[in-house]
Amino acid sequence: MARIAPSILAADFSKLADDIKDCDSLNVDWLHLDIMDGHFVPNISFGPSLVNTINKLTDKFLDVHLMLSEPEKYFEPFARAGADLITFHIEVHPEPVAPAKVLKEMGIKSGLSLNPATDIEKVLPYLEHFDLLLVMSVNPGFGGQSFIESVLPKIETAREYIDKNNLSTLIEIDGGIDENNAQRVVDAGVDILVIGSSFFGASDRQALTQKVQSLKR
Ligand code: DX5
Ligand code: ZN
Repeated sequence: MARIAPSILAADFSKLADDIKDCDSLNVDWLHLDIMDGHFVPNISFGPSLVNTINKLTDKFLDVHLMLSEPEKYFEPFARAGADLITFHIEVHPEPVAPAKVLKEMGIKSGLSLNPATDIEKVLPYLEHFDLLLVMSVNPGFGGQSFIESVLPKIETAREYIDKNNLSTLIEIDGGIDENNAQRVVDAGVDILVIGSSFFGASDRQALTQKVQSLKR
C-alpha cells in the first residue's frame, strides 16, 4: 500500500493549525516539510521554529526535506525541532555517507534526494546507508509545478536496485503528484507520495488520501 505525505508548503499558513488537524483526522501517513534557503533553490520557505510549532500541533511523523547548500549545519536545529527524518541532496553532498551517519547518531532517519537532472547512478551506491531515497519530479523551489515524466525510469532503476540488494530504503517522490499520475509512480516503485498543491487544493482531501493509500503495484 502506498503512503501519502502532504507538503505543508501548500497549506494555508493563515490557518495552519486547522490544516494540520485536518491531516491528522484524515490519517495521512507523514507530513512533508520543505526547507529552502534561497541559495540551493531560488526560494525561501521556513525554518526550525515553524517545524517546532508543527511538532507541537501533531504527533505525525515529520519528514523534513532540506533544500539547502549547507544542510549539515542545520541537522541539529531541525532534530531539536522535532524532525523524524531529514533528507538532504546529493548535489551538495557527493560523499553522503558521513552526514547519514551523523543523522543516525542523532537518532534521526536519513534521506538522500536527487534533482530531475541528476543521474540515478549517482545515488545507488549509497542507498544502503539511507532510510529513504527522495526522487524529485520537479526542479525544487516551488510547489504547483508540472510533473516531469522522464523521472519514471529513474524510479524503476532504484526499485530494481533496492529489491535486488534486499535494502529497506523507501522510495519517495516529490513534485507535481496528483490523482492522475499517482498510480503510474506507484507502478514504477514509489512507496511514499509527497503531494502539495493537489492535496491542499483538493475538493475532497479524504477521497484523495484514501485513493493514494489504496494504490498497489
Ligand atoms: C518542491 C518541494 C515539494 C513541493 C511539492 O521544491 O520540494 O515538496 O512542495 O508540491 P507540489 O505537490 O505542489 O508539486
Ligand atoms: Zn519536498
